[in-house]
Amino acid sequence: MAKKWLVGTLMAIMLFSLMGCGDSKAVNNKSETKKVLKVGTNPNFAPFDFMDSDGKMAGFDIDLIHAIGKKIGREIQMENIAFDGLIPAIQAGNIDMTIAGMTITEARKKSVLFSDPYYQSGLIVAVKMDNSQIQSIHDLTGKKIAAQIGTTGAMSARKIEGATVREFNASPETFMELKNNGVDAVVNDLPVVQYFIKTNGAKDFKMVGEVLSAESYGIAMNLKNTELAAEVNRALAELKKSGEYDKIYEKWFGQKSPQK
Ligand code: ARG
Repeated sequence: MAKKWLVGTLMAIMLFSLMGCGDSKAVNNKSETKKVLKVGTNPNFAPFDFMDSDGKMAGFDIDLIHAIGKKIGREIQMENIAFDGLIPAIQAGNIDMTIAGMTITEARKKSVLFSDPYYQSGLIVAVKMDNSQIQSIHDLTGKKIAAQIGTTGAMSARKIEGATVREFNASPETFMELKNNGVDAVVNDLPVVQYFIKTNGAKDFKMVGEVLSAESYGIAMNLKNTELAAEVNRALAELKKSGEYDKIYEKWFGQKSPQK
């Protein structure tokens, strides 16, 4: 009797695992499309989201979302979307979530549901190396500033008295404009400016003044998607605990993660 039961159980297990295999291979069948998680980003924001030299999406966000997908058993499908189109795409249900170095703000919280913070950031001012007049945000009154479209950098630049703000799609474009004297300064996220200066413009640009604001990045989802948000938060906490988060952090920032 006991043997029969054991054989039966084993067969059931085999059957289940076979079904599982078939499922994950048949990319186009219905159950698989359900498992896919459509994640939008704007890959103009190195080292968080960018296109690498092979034309593939890469960065801290991309590695992190794949690690999260693995934890929650969902296949990640990345979509390239303009930054100011990300929140509308979530609201329209065209994508399930976005990971795009997106700052958690009170205004955005009215339109999307954010995960727990996954990165502590802030804004900084950058100018040309030979500029000695602009030493902080206080020297930007009436100046021309470049920022990325729809970002917190653009929003805070617009609050500066008399400043003209020019918005660009990508962070490198803002620096091009600065180099060509089209603007006096760039306002963007500190880690992105740091990375750009280190990899592209160490001789041309410098950061000035203090970090303007404390900002945290969150993964954004539809306001109704509380279940998914709970899963993402659980995965994020597990990744932080297991050290996987730290590994990804060190890969992209070359130093130990400050957050635990
Ligand atoms: N942290 C800034 C914001 O949320 C900039 C994000 C830009 N991200 C991007 N992938 N282009 O407004």
